[in-house]
Amino acid sequence: MYQYNKAEYLRRMQWFREARLGMFIHFGLYAIPARGEWVRSNEKMPEEDYLPFFHHFNPKHFDATQWAKTAKAAGMRYLILTAKHHDGFCLFDTATTDYKSTNTPFGLDIVREVLDAARAEGLRVGLYYSLLDWHHPDYPHYGDRNHPMRSDERHTNAGRIFSRYIEYYQSQVRELCSNYGKLDIFWFDYSYDHLRGEAWEATRLVNMVRSLQPGIILNNRLEVSGEGYGSLAEGNPTPYHGDFITPERMIPPEGIRNQQGEELFWETCVTMNNNWGYCRDDRCFKSPEMILRKLVESISKGGNFLLNVGPDGNGAFPPEAVEILSFLGKWMETNAESIYGCGRSSLSKPEFGRYTQRGKTLYLHLFENALGPLPLLGIRKEEIESAVLLHDYSQCPISTSWVHSDYPHITFLDLGPYPNLPDQTDTVVKITLK
Ligand code: GLC
Repeated sequence: MYQYNKAEYLRRMQWFREARLGMFIHFGLYAIPARGEWVRSNEKMPEEDYLPFFHHFNPKHFDATQWAKTAKAAGMRYLILTAKHHDGFCLFDTATTDYKSTNTPFGLDIVREVLDAARAEGLRVGLYYSLLDWHHPDYPHYGDRNHPMRSDERHTNAGRIFSRYIEYYQSQVRELCSNYGKLDIFWFDYSYDHLRGEAWEATRLVNMVRSLQPGIILNNRLEVSGEGYGSLAEGNPTPYHGDFITPERMIPPEGIRNQQGEELFWETCVTMNNNWGYCRDDRCFKSPEMILRKLVESISKGGNFLLNVGPDGNGAFPPEAVEILSFLGKWMETNAESIYGCGRSSLSKPEFGRYTQRGKTLYLHLFENALGPLPLLGIRKEEIESAVLLHDYSQCPISTSWVHSDYPHITFLDLGPYPNLPDQTDTVVKITLK
């Protein structure tokens, strides 16, 4: 029986804090209609209109190794793949249903392909698993908040036995925890209305998951969703408490702390455009520069950053996603140490960017340059052992310029004569404190 133990909890969370940056992949049948992963619900699409996508699913450009190498090159340390989304389609060879990728023309166990490829690149792996299931006959239909047939009284819930669905979904989770090697994260999605906690028989589920996958970390969505923190934050952890909080498409303005002011583990999951699953007409991609600065902001507030890619119906990453990931990777080549294992600094946010910190090493992320020498509010000269530009590891000496002689109580750094920062998006100054 699982019981929360703080020391054990902190031990299993260590890699998560070190990793900081992960890739989320939303892939499945919904990539073919290409209107996002909620297309069945949004359009109240009957199953018979969705089934053709099952019969035609054959992503010819699917390349798990390419996906994993792209994640690795972008500086990601873990990869989370949808094993089953709300539509109930299983990307793994489950014995519980025929509604699975191995029964499509594609024929492969996508979970196995992707997890094997990710591990081969040295990435930690996780699986997203939807507690919702719009395919299963015993899952609530009429009157449910989300089901595609929620408004159609022909889909009454008479005869639906929810306990049968519980056995079904828990059997699938057992398969995933038994047949696919070591899992580092299980990313459940999501609790709503009365369907939360023991309504999912979550204690039984978590005891099974944690016995099959010792050391695994779980998100908080057996209890809540992107809304709500969960029982650990409230200081009263249930057996199925989340190990981390999962804000979605936003960054908690002040990070997340419990009622005692202790920092909590959280991971914001972020879409590059406005959809998790592939959406052909959603070209509202965030710029690479914005994504980088949001990554830095998340770390500066003590969180992880899970960046999503929604491959298209051919299994290819959208070109905008490839551009963003390549931009991130280029920056991480020089600056990754200012992300991995870093977190919030006790210093106030600097005027020209953000701080991330790891022990006695402070990283000043400059999104713009100061006019003249760079002021470091709150840091005394005597505290600084050294300061360098990570860009070329060139020294940034303490400035002795007369221009700031009226401000002897403020430390200024000399970044050299060139006014434009070497990296216009984020130039990092590594400050080693005594
Ligand atoms: C929300 C969406 C779901 C998506 C998840 C990712 O729960 O409903 O489609 O997979 O966010 O965090």
